[in-house]
Order: sequence, then C-alpha cells, then structure tokens
Amino acid sequence: MKIGVLTGGGDCPGLDAAIRGVVYRAGQQGHQVVGFLDGWKGVRDNLARPLALAEVVTIVGDGGTILGSSRTNPFQKPEDVAKVEATIRSQALDALVAIGGDDTLSAALALYQRGGRVVGVPKTMDNDVGGTDWTFGFDSAASVAMDAAERLRDTARSHHRAIVLEVMGRHAGWVALATGLAAGADATLVPEERYDETALMDHVRRAIAARGYALIVVSEGVEVGAAQGTSGAADEFGHELLRERGVGALLAKRIEAGTGVEARSVQIGHIQRGGPPTLFDRLLSLRLGVQAVDLVLDGRFGHVAVLRGERVMGVPLEEALKSPKLVTADWLDLLHTFDA
Ligand code: F6P
Repeated sequence: MKIGVLTGGGDCPGLDAAIRGVVYRAGQQGHQVVGFLDGWKGVRDNLARPLALAEVVTIVGDGGTILGSSRTNPFQKPEDVAKVEATIRSQALDALVAIGGDDTLSAALALYQRGGRVVGVPKTMDNDVGGTDWTFGFDSAASVAMDAAERLRDTARSHHRAIVLEVMGRHAGWVALATGLAAGADATLVPEERYDETALMDHVRRAIAARGYALIVVSEGVEVGAAQGTSGAADEFGHELLRERGVGALLAKRIEAGTGVEARSVQIGHIQRGGPPTLFDRLLSLRLGVQAVDLVLDGRFGHVAVLRGERVMGVPLEEALKSPKLVTADWLDLLHTFDA
C-alpha cells in the first residue's frame, strides 16, 4: 500500500511522534508512506515527499512538524476538492492519514463521504476534539503555560502586583483550567462559564491582602466586559483569531481600575505550541499514529484513532466531530474548590 499522511491546523508538540508512529507501523507491515506538505494545501497542490524510516528515526522528541502545516480548507472551493481527488489519483494513494484538530478532521470526513479512503488522528493543544479522552499537544502546551505562570508568580510577588496570564485554547478552557490548577493561580477564567467581575475583584484584593500579589489565568476565549467585540480576523474555516482580542490585557486594566492594585498582563501565545512534547504526549502520539495505520489495514476508513481510558481504538469521524469537547462541570467544581 501507499499511505499518505498530512498534518493540518495549528501545530503542537507530538506531531512528529505521530508521523513516526505512522511510518514505522506502515514499514513494519511492508507498506510505504508519502508525506504531504503544509496540511491539506499539500494534497490540493500535490506537494509531497516520500517518508522513509531514516527520516523519522530521531524525530520523536521534536516540536513542530517535519511536514509543515496550514489552515487550508480544501472544501471551500469545488475546484480545490477536484484537485485533492486528482492528487490522490496521480499519487496512486491507497489511503490517507489526516492528523489534525476539528477542522482538518472535518475535511477528512467530507473526503471520506465522497468515497475517499481516509482515517484521522486527533491533535490539538486545545484538547477540544470530541470522542477522545485527551489529544496530544495539550499536556505539552499546558506544561509550558504552567511553567510561565510560576515564573510570573515570582515577579508578581517581588513587585506586589496582580499579573494576568492569557493562554490559548479557543472556545475550550482546558489549557487555562490545567494551568490555573497546576500553578495554584488565585483565579482562573474559562470560556465555559461567565465570571463574576465583583467576585474576581474581591478575590484579587484578598490575595493581595494575604500575600501581597495575585496570579490570574485567563483563556483567550473568555468574554471580558460588554465592549470587547470581535477582532474581525478569521481563518479559512471561519474561526475568529481570538488572541487579537487581547483579553489578558483588558482584564489587567479592569483589575487595576477596580482594585487599585498595579497589574500587568502576559500573552504567552505561540510559545505554548513550540518545544519538545512531554512524555505523555510522545506516548499518545506514537500510539495514535500506529493505530491510524491499523485502521487503514483493517479497512476502517472514515474512522479516527482515539484514546479511551488506557486504550487506543478507532471511532467514526462523524461521532468524534459531533461536538467539541468543552470543560465539564466536574472540572469546574474542582477548579472552584481552590477559590480562596
Ligand atoms: O487551535 C490551536 C490554537 O493554538 C488555538 O488555541 C489558537 O486560538 C489558535 O490555534 C491560534 O492560531 P494561529 O496559529 O493561526 O495564530
């Protein structure tokens, strides 16, 4: 078999390990792999390179993706869909493994529904793909954000300030939640619940009175005040570029005005997406890459490799994409247990 692989959407640690899983399993079973460059763009424009074992031997701990990525939506224009199908024919592909988040995987589903022999691998630092317990990239990104939060606490303590750390995550608060919990933030705001501004100000005042500083973690998708609006900027899948709204900076200004405490804000941005994957993400990526090839070999197209409890398995893409995985009430309850 000739199996194609692509990585699409926002990159995250663990992509290279997943590619390695695909190439090794395919090689072990006597099949060859070709990598498409820059996500669906590479399939649309027929930009590919063979992926031999030698090229993936040392990449398990690398950040980013050796294939490159993009947010290209091949289903935006009918002529692009035709190009994608022409590439599959001209490359004589037997199967395609699409590694990506909701957008990349929804393009995979659309292709499958047109008869394409496609399987998926979920990835995203946002941890918001349905159908799987965890996505790789999340543990690594949240670990970087946790480290940043702890560093910010040191300087907040020295200067008796309130510091707001804004993390990514789109409309899912997993990264903020994990960062706030793991770094012991004084307050953590996630998009899944409306925060109470009066309570937040009281919280900051109490933290300052007790310890002389406050650390607040906010997710980029949180609504801060009525005047916030949208940034207007969007990607090819129609998603607003949330970091342009600058919720961290806005929140810091409100905290300073509301409490009289000097405040600063930091937007950690793409720093969260770089660097080596954690142990957890490496193992998950390798397992899901291997599982994706097993799905192909079993002819289970239209499926995505997922983690359920301790096990990796395949579930229909349609099921996984039904709704994004948002922070649940039990996690919010855990978070609020630590409200002072
Ligand atoms: O989906 C991953 C993610 O990092 C989101 O958390 C964030 O909103 C978005 O990508 C940023 O996208 P870009 O890399 O295009 O700026």
